[in-house]
Amino acid sequence: MAEEAILGYLEKTEQISDSGNFAAELGLDHTDVVNVIKSLHGFRYVDAQDIKRETWVLTDEGRKYAAEGSPEVQLFLAVPPEGSIPKDELQKKLVPAVFKIGCSQAGKNRWVEMGKQISRKVQHVEDKVKELLLRVEDGHAIEKDDINSLKARKLIVQQTWKGYSVSKGPNYAPKRKKVATDLTRENLQRGDWKELEFKEYNFNAKGQPAEGGHLHPLLKVRKQLKDIFLQMGFEEMPTNNFVESSFWNFDVLFQPQQHPARDSHDTFFLEEPSTTRKLPEAYVELVKRVHESGGYGSRGYGYDWKREEANKNLLRTHTTAVSSRMLKALAEKPFAPKKYFSIDRVFRNEAVDRTHLAEFHQIEGLVCDRGLTLGDLIGVLHDFFSRLGMSKLRFKPAYNPYTEPSMEIFSYHEGLGKWVEIGNSGMFRPEMLLPMGFPEDARVIAWGLSLERPTMILYGIDNIRDLFGHKVLLLLLLNLSTCFCCLKQENVAASFSP
Ligand code: PHE
Repeated sequence: MAEEAILGYLEKTEQISDSGNFAAELGLDHTDVVNVIKSLHGFRYVDAQDIKRETWVLTDEGRKYAAEGSPEVQLFLAVPPEGSIPKDELQKKLVPAVFKIGCSQAGKNRWVEMGKQISRKVQHVEDKVKELLLRVEDGHAIEKDDINSLKARKLIVQQTWKGYSVSKGPNYAPKRKKVATDLTRENLQRGDWKELEFKEYNFNAKGQPAEGGHLHPLLKVRKQLKDIFLQMGFEEMPTNNFVESSFWNFDVLFQPQQHPARDSHDTFFLEEPSTTRKLPEAYVELVKRVHESGGYGSRGYGYDWKREEANKNLLRTHTTAVSSRMLKALAEKPFAPKKYFSIDRVFRNEAVDRTHLAEFHQIEGLVCDRGLTLGDLIGVLHDFFSRLGMSKLRFKPAYNPYTEPSMEIFSYHEGLGKWVEIGNSGMFRPEMLLPMGFPEDARVIAWGLSLERPTMILYGIDNIRDLFGHKVLLLLLLNLSTCFCCLKQENVAASFSP
């Protein structure tokens, strides 16, 4: 609008002498006109000369009187035409400032007789002050004496008005040419790059400020859990293999081959490569034997153990697969007590919903030593969870193929006022540990929990897909990360809920 008007005007006339008058004549906003002039000037369509004018504008008080009338006239009108009014009664009829200023001005103008009683001295008055204020407000010039008196009464102040006088520049054209910012593949194909005018690079322009990196909420909670494990003297296990053989994920853990978890409905099996290349043959023999006929005081499962089942590659379904490899390696060395932990991703072929994803993270801890008992497991769990702020724990007998006894862990959630399940635990079976080569009295206590659950509740996320996966809004995570900087351990505790 303003741009067309300016370029069009210059086509016929050499100069726009005053952008202010120009804007007023065309009914345009002067700020818009100024912005367009600056931009046209930048591309040298126009030359522009600064013009400055001192103008007067109304103060807040001036604006009020321009609308409501001057205090002296307001006072005059409050005095009855005939007779008089007691001063204190008149005072009650007017705002304090209007009464005070009105008295002195109306007195000075000899409009009223001042005393205990106030009466009119003239029949009619004109509100010259209001008139002058309205003229100033409309941008009209007024007499010097009037300016001085309004200024003295602080009803107007001076302001510097800035505008431009504008004439054609070296690149003047009645219409701005669109300059190309990029040379595109289409430009090259069409050949129109020859005619195109390209925008010059502005090497002085500052780039967009770079947003700092932000940690994903899961990474923050993971860090906190990792610190707790490290404080308790645990070593981190290497978890960098998502692909695992069924052997290490299931068989080593004394999980029978007909177990429903080993079904493709529950587990992602790999198509390529579908089987593992190498297993420790002597150990495979021992695992096979314990499944089929037991040993070490066990009757086994009494079925035909198949090597093909053990060979199948899968995406690990739990981080206990990592623990089984680590324990086997440990059993091959002269016995030494160990404390291990891991926090990493696992995969399950589950229907995805608000609380389930096909991939999530598990936290796992284990302690290996001679003669450990269930009491040690309970003690370690108390130590671990109280560091997370959960000191009220309860245990419920459970079943895992690889642990006996097994316990579900519950914690009392103060906020919800009830016991909520927070993890699973147990003592690894002799059927698992002895074939590995551990001494008779070696015991391994272990527990596991998910990383997503506490994180979700901590952040008030009720749909896991908002936290993890391809539908996550990065902006949401960014905002979450700002309110998370003061995470306290108590908050983690409060966050566990069903
Ligand atoms: N692996 C178990 C799970 O997937 C957790 C667990 C770990 C249980 C260690 C007992 C011992 O839930």
